[in-house]
Amino acid sequence: MADQKATNVHWHEGDITRAHRAGLLGHKGATLWFTGLSGSGKSTVAVELEGMLNEMGVLSYRLDGDNVRLGINRNLGFSAEDRTENIRRIGEIAKLFVDTGVIALSSFISPYKADRDQVRALHEAAGMDFIEIFVDCSLEAAESRDPKGLYKKARAGEIKNFTGIDDPYEAPAQAEIHLHSDQQTLAEEVEIILAVLRERGIIKA
Ligand code: ADX
Repeated sequence: MADQKATNVHWHEGDITRAHRAGLLGHKGATLWFTGLSGSGKSTVAVELEGMLNEMGVLSYRLDGDNVRLGINRNLGFSAEDRTENIRRIGEIAKLFVDTGVIALSSFISPYKADRDQVRALHEAAGMDFIEIFVDCSLEAAESRDPKGLYKKARAGEIKNFTGIDDPYEAPAQAEIHLHSDQQTLAEEVEIILAVLRERGIIKA
C-alpha cells in the first residue's frame, strides 16, 4: 500500500450519493476483477460481457492492462514494484467507476495475491461489490494461443520477467468466479458472470 504523502488533505463529501447515481442508471456499480495469465482470455471475456451488458442497458467500462499501460500507467514496467503500483492505481480507478454507478471490468494479469486482496479490501471498506474472476487457463493453452507473440519472445529470452515463464503468477484460491477458458465457450463464461450479477442484485434479474 502506497504511503499517504500529502498532509493537511481532507475528504470533501458532496450531496449526491452513490444511491442517487444508481437510481439514475437503474443498476449498481461493481468491480469485476479478471485475473489470469497473459493470453488466458481476460480481455476477450470482458469485451463480450461489455457487449451483453450494453444490450441490456447496463453501463460498464473496461479497464485493460495494455490500454492503461499506454496511458495513466505509461511510467510503469513489469518489476514486482511496478506491477504492485499498476494494480493499486487500477484499484483506485475502478473504485471511482463503482462510485459513479458503472460496472468496471478490470482485466490485468494482477499476478500477486496480496495486491488483489488490497484492492478487494479497499472496495469492501467502501461498501462496494468486488467480484474476482479467475480466468483459469493452462500455460500450455495460453502459450499455444500466443495472440501477441509474446510467449515466443519470452522463450527466446527477448522479454524478461514474463508472467508464467520467468515471473510468478499466484492463482486465487477463493475467487467468486472460476472460469476455465481452455474448456468453456465464451458464451458459457459470460452467462456464468451474468448469473452472479443477477444473484447479487447488481443488475435486474
Ligand atoms: S500486471 O502484471 O501488472 O497485472 P498487466 O495486465 O498490466 O500486467 O499487463 C500485462 C500485459 O502486458 C500482457 O498481456 C502483455 O501484453 C504485456 N507484457 C509485456 N511485458 C510483459 C511481462 N514481462 N509480463 C507480463 N506481461 C507483459
